[in-house]
Amino acid sequence: MDLCIIGAGYVGLVTAACFSEIGHRVICMDHDGEKMAVLNSGRMPIYEPHLEDLIRSNRGKGRLSFTMDLCQAAKESQVIFICVGTPPLENGEADLSAVEKVTRQVASVTHSFKLVVEKSTVPVQTGEYIHKTLQIYCRAEDGDFEVASNPEFLREGSAVHDFFHPDRIVVGVRSKKAETILRQIYQPILDGFTSCPVHSACPPLPKPVFLTTDIRSAEIIKHASNSFLATKISFINAIADICEHAGADVQKVAEGMGLDPRIGRAFLNAGLGFGGFCFPKDLQAFLRIAEKLGYDFALLRETEKINQKRIDIAVEKLKKALWVLQGKRIGIFGLAFKPHTDDIRFAPSLALIRRLKQEGCLIRAYDPQAEEKTSREIPDITYAKDPYEAAEGAEAIVLVTEWPEFAHLDWKKIRQSMMRPYLLDGRNFLDPKQMKTLGFEYEGMGRANCES
Ligand code: UDX
Repeated sequence: MDLCIIGAGYVGLVTAACFSEIGHRVICMDHDGEKMAVLNSGRMPIYEPHLEDLIRSNRGKGRLSFTMDLCQAAKESQVIFICVGTPPLENGEADLSAVEKVTRQVASVTHSFKLVVEKSTVPVQTGEYIHKTLQIYCRAEDGDFEVASNPEFLREGSAVHDFFHPDRIVVGVRSKKAETILRQIYQPILDGFTSCPVHSACPPLPKPVFLTTDIRSAEIIKHASNSFLATKISFINAIADICEHAGADVQKVAEGMGLDPRIGRAFLNAGLGFGGFCFPKDLQAFLRIAEKLGYDFALLRETEKINQKRIDIAVEKLKKALWVLQGKRIGIFGLAFKPHTDDIRFAPSLALIRRLKQEGCLIRAYDPQAEEKTSREIPDITYAKDPYEAAEGAEAIVLVTEWPEFAHLDWKKIRQSMMRPYLLDGRNFLDPKQMKTLGFEYEGMGRANCES
């Protein structure tokens, strides 16, 4: 099928690359000329595992192209996916100006049938606004279009894998026609796509469920899913605090809870809390949506509050260990909001570093991917070329992002190079026993009793 993807951010690029990989002809459009120039020259504006290879090979096959011309791209396509950003406004609501702007432009090409699919994370009832906007701005007498919702559930860092092996594909539609088109687009994945570039042989995963709903329900599924996952993280972080006061180990508690299939172990990792461009902003947006609809979603406010407190707790731990923070050298291991990405949006590392700077600490940070982006946000700290350099002469290390490479470092060498071997494992990632044996003053998050 001929597909147009509007927006070449994380979601748009992954969607465009993966749709072309399963055989569709895809034009990906973005108004950012610099980004398009980067993509057209074969380089990448973001780091996401496997994405570069996919884009290169599908451009080579002529199935994927990039343009700044929205009208041309939309004209040539039957299905148009809106994947533009919906960043938070100051009051927490989603800024829908980009969605509205591209919808008006799409309206001008609806003289032949177009299925306009919202993939951006949008508040419930946005589908109706898109429909109305298409009606108002459609210049042809006989505008022929339909609107659908198809929320994405991709995780950064494993977005390509997630696209080819989803648990579910949710489509919110108003007609059988729209459902059929979307089903056709996703058919190779529904059949159990077995040659994705992430695996040499794809694992035998269950085939995804294709869930058809009305548009409003599909829109709520996205916000409700992200809010639920964020709440699960805050729940375990609250338990982590209780463990700390009670002399228990949250890792063991999470293990015990997670063995109940009704709870599950996923997203029960206590630590410095959640960041990224989805959870924090989607929580805020969902709170505002609920408020507008007349419901006070106090549970989500608490979820946010617990998350924000994680940084205070880490700073308190450092203060307790180092007594005075002024002038102390601290090594930060990891800047990205999670491993396998260079994304630092709403990353706990930024909040932590800013707080430590206020306390007068001297920061030396290392991240395998996110250094460049962080240095644009926080230029006045030192960036190390490797973790060893970040640790040298430090009075403390804080592990902020659980990059797998941190599990395989020469920790003995690191301890020897430190001024004082205090290690705050903000992700409960390292083996406390091993670290203590090596001579570290090891502390995790919610692990008061982690050696028994
Ligand atoms: C999330 C959703 O998972 C995805 O379905 C949606 O499409 C976009 O938002 P993403 O933001 O890429 O994906 O990352 P995710 O893996 O969900 O992690 C989000 C944050 O939560 C990270 O900062 C991570 O470190 C943190 N987290 C995750 C925890 O603190 N504990 C956990 O147990 C899991």
